[in-house]
Amino acid sequence: MADNKRLICKSGELQEKALGVRFGLPELGERVTGFVVRYNGTPYAYVNRCAHVFVELDWQEGDFFDLTRHYLICATHGAHYQPQTGYCVMGPCKGRSLEALKVIEQDNAIYLILESIKHV
Ligand code: FES
Repeated sequence: MADNKRLICKSGELQEKALGVRFGLPELGERVTGFVVRYNGTPYAYVNRCAHVFVELDWQEGDFFDLTRHYLICATHGAHYQPQTGYCVMGPCKGRSLEALKVIEQDNAIYLILESIKHV
């Protein structure tokens, strides 16, 4: 496997509009995590921190979708994000976005593209 990607999970672990899969992002700090969800068949990944305050979105581990399953929600103060873009459509950080990460799905697995991690 090339060094530019890292295995996150098997494809079967990521179900449509269901629980997301969290993964470590040691490049951004010891406790920083990312997550991937599947929406309309496509995996989308973001750094797991709200655009409002630097807290993880999921209160219950992996639970990123709201009740409609059409938005990602921050459990702390309720910001709603589009799963496809990470853009906040409602809540305290409306108009801002989650930090997107690039993932690819191949050979029945989902990989993080390491160059997509933006160091701040
Ligand atoms: S910390 Fe996420 S909406 Fe405020």
